[in-house]
Amino acid sequence: MPSEDAPSLRTRRLRIIESGESASEPPNAFALAVRAGLRSDPKTLPCRYFYDEQGSRLFEQICDLPEYYLTRTEDSILLDHAHTMVAGWIDAPVMVELGSGSSSKTRRLILAALQTYRSLQYVPIDVSKTILEESAEALVEEFPRLQVTGFAANYRDALAGVVERFDRPKLFVFLGSSLGNYEPDQAVDLLSLIARSMDPSDRLLLGTDLDKDPKILEAAYDDAQGVTARFNLNLLERINRELGGNFAVERFEHQARYRNDLHRVEMHLVSREDQEVVIPGAGLTVKFSEGESIHSENSHKYNPAILDELGNRSGFIEEDAWTDADHRFRVQRWRSRSGQSSHSRTEV
Ligand code: AVI
Repeated sequence: MPSEDAPSLRTRRLRIIESGESASEPPNAFALAVRAGLRSDPKTLPCRYFYDEQGSRLFEQICDLPEYYLTRTEDSILLDHAHTMVAGWIDAPVMVELGSGSSSKTRRLILAALQTYRSLQYVPIDVSKTILEESAEALVEEFPRLQVTGFAANYRDALAGVVERFDRPKLFVFLGSSLGNYEPDQAVDLLSLIARSMDPSDRLLLGTDLDKDPKILEAAYDDAQGVTARFNLNLLERINRELGGNFAVERFEHQARYRNDLHRVEMHLVSREDQEVVIPGAGLTVKFSEGESIHSENSHKYNPAILDELGNRSGFIEEDAWTDADHRFRVQRWRSRSGQSSHSRTEV
């Protein structure tokens, strides 16, 4: 029988901090975003709205698809190099993960850190409090020497909170090529924010998808089973569910288009016919002509030169980098060029 204090011991190793107002968006944020996006020319919808319950479930399925090589390729790089990635401090750095989701990407790093150091403080950041709670509970259950302090907040507020609460060396982690869903200038803004949160003893691990044969890229975003199509079309279903829209999703087609000039895969929802859609919750009636598209996501693909430039513009210097044998994906360890610190780092 488990001892009576087991749950409280576990609870003491787990806390979730909600960062004020920013923990969740204002209730009408989705309606405003839909209204603005569908009134613009060309029509757009922000990809962050993919991830309601249904969309998050579909995304988990995408990560296991044969065509979606990103997740397993990054995982293979982590499997081979996690110990090197987390090495270099006397005591474990606080491991801060941006966009942690279910924390599945980070398990290998957590395990390697616990094999290297006596204990570990893991700080996942995600907008979803529910996902944070679920994954944090599973992690403290699995790893007895792990403490989890989750931040349910946007990145800006969470990073401010992390810097305020943890006056120790940190390893920031941003995996899954999530950076690729930002426009280049937004990516620089986010990376600069991370760089400004860093001391000289801190490091950033950044996982990014590399540019490659368009056929491989388009298949990764338009799989044979149609899971990515359902993920994309779920955006219209979400508008129906939450804003009372009357989208007939079968009248739209999912498309993945590789743009060589912009180094990105774009996802579109293309109207199969002339039609009109009413969305009461966004105060909107929208006309679509046949072939007209709603641009729903960009997924940027990188090469070492582009990544160097991004790092330079954001205040980073590359310290180390790892890739798979086929050069599909890259994980880099960056340090900030300008961090001011009272900490000292040992070997790296
Ligand atoms: C979350 N993000 C990095 C994924 C990507 O590859 O851009 C989202 C995704 N969209 C379609 N498939 C997966």
